[in-house]
Amino acid sequence: MCGIVGYVGRRQAAPILLEGLRRLEYRGYDSAGVAIQNGRGLEVRKLAGRVQGLRDELAQAPIAGTSGIAHTRWATHGAPTARNAHPHVDCTEAIAVVHNGIIENADALRAALERGGHRFRTETDTETLAHLIEEAAGTTLEERVAAALSHVVGTYGMAVVAANEPGKVVVARQGSPVLLGLGENEFFVASDASAVLEHTRSVVYLDDGDLAVLTPESYHVMDANAHVQLRDVSDIAWDLDAIDLGGYPHFMLKEICEQPEAVKGTLRGRLMLEEGVARLDGLNLTPEACSGISRVVIVACGTSWHAGLVGRHLIEELARLPVAVEYASEYRYRPRLTIPGTLTVAISQSGETADTLEAMRAAKAAGSRVLGLVNVVGSTIAREADGGIYLHAGPEIGVASTKAFASQIVALALLGLFLGRPRGLPLAAGQELACRLAQLPRLISLALALEPQVRELAREYAERRNFLYLGRGVSFPVALEGALKLKEISYIHAEGYPAAEMKHGPIALIDADMPVVFVAPRDAVYSKVLSNMQEVKARGGRIIAVTTEGSADHGALVDHRLCVPATAPLLSPVLTTVPLQLLAYHMAVLRGCDVDRPRNLAKSVTVE
Ligand code: AGP
Repeated sequence: MCGIVGYVGRRQAAPILLEGLRRLEYRGYDSAGVAIQNGRGLEVRKLAGRVQGLRDELAQAPIAGTSGIAHTRWATHGAPTARNAHPHVDCTEAIAVVHNGIIENADALRAALERGGHRFRTETDTETLAHLIEEAAGTTLEERVAAALSHVVGTYGMAVVAANEPGKVVVARQGSPVLLGLGENEFFVASDASAVLEHTRSVVYLDDGDLAVLTPESYHVMDANAHVQLRDVSDIAWDLDAIDLGGYPHFMLKEICEQPEAVKGTLRGRLMLEEGVARLDGLNLTPEACSGISRVVIVACGTSWHAGLVGRHLIEELARLPVAVEYASEYRYRPRLTIPGTLTVAISQSGETADTLEAMRAAKAAGSRVLGLVNVVGSTIAREADGGIYLHAGPEIGVASTKAFASQIVALALLGLFLGRPRGLPLAAGQELACRLAQLPRLISLALALEPQVRELAREYAERRNFLYLGRGVSFPVALEGALKLKEISYIHAEGYPAAEMKHGPIALIDADMPVVFVAPRDAVYSKVLSNMQEVKARGGRIIAVTTEGSADHGALVDHRLCVPATAPLLSPVLTTVPLQLLAYHMAVLRGCDVDRPRNLAKSVTVE
């Protein structure tokens, strides 16, 4: 999941391409490069490491030119080295390609091209595209790109420039997101809107199979048969402030602190307090379709999957519908059982996660109605779903998902309310939950006030090598999420586990060196969690408890207590997760980790 950028216009391309890459760096950050048409041909610069390194190099030796392409990489094929960095060129270095995705038949294509005399310089799948275009027949670059792509199996969001066609950028999409930014006598290409927002709000999202040609004067989109296609022009709603640090040291901390606003955004215009219902027009679910639902299947990955686990409790409790929560990457390869009345919900912050997208497509092919719970407007899952809920949490730049998790849980509560009331959820219960939802932004602010206490805790535990997170019921997914946050940004090994399951194995890990984080709000299983705390204490474990105000009856059992405000038990994950996000954040900062760009990760996993 790399980031690609392109520009053609009247202005110098280099600064525009570099700033676009900086905005997309959360998509992949192990190497970067540019190719610019400098009036004499193509000039390519690339290196291993961050975009800043490329910016420094171009500051030393600038490249003049008003059109070009650029790339920031998350390596899939070939180590993250300068040689394997994009752009990739053909034998004559007259064609340059940047690519996000995976060419699945690259090995076979490469072998054929090498037999045809092509000399490869890198270990990447992408270089195959440059040689294929070089080999392809056609009088224009777009003809040659189309011909080359007819041999390709795999996914791509790509941009191409050629030395002999200055002032032209050709773009193609199959499976990986690409949009065009529309300006006055200039056009932009990007993997997502954050790279073009500085220049324009008007964008065109390309569909699979689209090929676009950009020149300073105009752009057009064609399908695979070279038939010109009209694509909608969308307007980006958020502004640059939303994707700037705004004085925070890291996007992750900014986004943790933005959770009250994010949840307000998810609730806005959707809560009917008097009627105790949720208004979700984007679902496109008629009352008939709604009453025809007999089961819900949630498909997702990572943090979104954890939100799905909370969603199961919400929908089963509120709508009395059975819910299955599936890892999208597993679900997409399971036998397709067409069960009438199945509603499939694909949860994805980015709306581009390949496994979730394919799982949604598979469910749709099996006849299921599919909804998307998505944060990124205009993303592929949002556009392909039958209906959905936009989170309106604002852009999430930090690779570790935080505010999107809170908004996903709130959106699932709204969905539970929407499905539940017509299924007999009493008015009073609906009103109660709606009222509790409306209070959440204020309560999250109170939970955020725990930060100084959490920072102290992080100082005490920053050098620990292992952590165990335990929770029961709706708090089990919170334990999983807390462990994931710690793993992905501080690189400390951590496991989330159902508290009662501990006795069946993990309890063997408990000793004075194993900090155990209990997610223990005062709910129906609280007393059971107290017994689990006893079991840990009896083996010398150190206990950090995230609990709700007023629950002091664990007394000396607990070494550290983090109290969040009380709310409806089903909604407690929105609050109990906050101190765990802050703990992971401060541990990572204390350990000198790159919080917003954790190693080996990327914000949106657009390849399988
Ligand atoms: C979470 O912090 C991670 N970035 C990752 O697990 C993420 O949740 C997962 O890749 C799913 O992403 P999505 O919500 O954009 O589909």
